[in-house]
Amino acid sequence: MCGIRFLCSLATRVQLCYNTHMIIKSLLENTIHEKAYAKLNISLDVSKPRADGYHDMLMVMQTVSICDDVSIRLNNTGRFHAGTGLPFIPGDERNLAVKAAKLFLQETGHQDMGAEIRIKKAIPVGAGMAGGSADAAAVLRAMNRSFNYPLDNAALLKLSEKAGSDVPFCVIGGTALAQGRGELLTELRPLPDCRFVICKPDFSISTPELFRAIDGIRLRTHPDTKGIVEAIDAGDLKQICRRMYNVFEDVQDRRMKTVSEIKRKMLAGGAEASIMTGTGSATYGVFSPEADTEQLCRELKKEYGFCVYAKPVGKLI
Ligand code: C5P
Repeated sequence: MCGIRFLCSLATRVQLCYNTHMIIKSLLENTIHEKAYAKLNISLDVSKPRADGYHDMLMVMQTVSICDDVSIRLNNTGRFHAGTGLPFIPGDERNLAVKAAKLFLQETGHQDMGAEIRIKKAIPVGAGMAGGSADAAAVLRAMNRSFNYPLDNAALLKLSEKAGSDVPFCVIGGTALAQGRGELLTELRPLPDCRFVICKPDFSISTPELFRAIDGIRLRTHPDTKGIVEAIDAGDLKQICRRMYNVFEDVQDRRMKTVSEIKRKMLAGGAEASIMTGTGSATYGVFSPEADTEQLCRELKKEYGFCVYAKPVGKLI
C-alpha cells in the first residue's frame, strides 16, 4: 500500500517537473503579449508625510482604454532590458517593467532567467496616468499567466507593491479606492458609462517635486471621497462629477495655470467635470457617452500637443 502511494507521489512530481519544463521551453520560444492600461484619478487626497517619507493617500482610481503594448521574450541570460524607442526612458532596472520582471522571476524561483521587454508607448510619459506602473503591472499579469499562475492574486499584488505605489492598482484595474501609499485597495462598482477627453500639455511635473511642494502648503479643501464612493455605488455620474477633486491642483506653480486653462476649455466644451490626474500634467474631462467631443479634442490637441478620447475599462484580473 505504502509502495503504491510512494510511486503515485513520485509520478505526480515527475509530471509536475515535466509540465514546468514544457512551460519554460515554450516561454523561451514564444513572445508574451499584454496590454498596459493607463489610470485616471477620479479624486486624489494626500495627508502629511509619514516616517518612511511616503504620504498616505486617499484616491479613487479608474482604469482607462488608452494603453501601451508590452511584449516579453524570456531568455536564459539572467539579463534584463526594456526598449521603448524613447531615449529618455531608461532600459535598465530604473524602468518599472524590468523591476517587475526581475521580482517575478526571483519570487517564482527562476532567478537564472532574464527578459527582453518591448514597450510600444501610447500612454504619455510624465502625465500622472501611471504609464510606467501600468507597464510593470502588465509584465506581472502576463508572466503569471504564462507560468500557469504560480502566484494567486493576493501574492501577485503583494509582489507588485515592491515595484511601486501605483503598480497594485494597475495589476487589478477597474474602479477602486486606494489608500496607504496607494497599495491598499478596495474594489468599487464599475463607473457609470462615460467618456474621457484627456489632454496633456507639453510639460511634465516631477512626482517627488510635487509631493515636496504640497508638504509646504495648507490645503484649501479636500475631495469628498466618501461622497464619491457612495455616488459610484449608486451609479450616479452627476454626483460623482460634482465631487471630483485633486489636491495637487492647489500647489502654486505657474504650470497649474495651464491646467486651469485646460479645465476651463473642457467645461466650456460640455464636460460634466474636469480635473488633473495624479501629479499631472494630464488633465481630463468627463463626458456623457453621447457627447460629441471631436472638435474639442481636435482643438486641445492643436493647442497643447496631446489629446485623446478614452473609455473606462473594468477589472483586469
Ligand atoms: O512608490 P513610487 O516609487 O511610485 O513613488 C515615487 C515617489 O513619489 C516616492 O519616492 C515619493 O517621493 C513619492 N510618493 C509619496 N507618497 C506616496 C507615493 C509616492 O510621497 N504615497
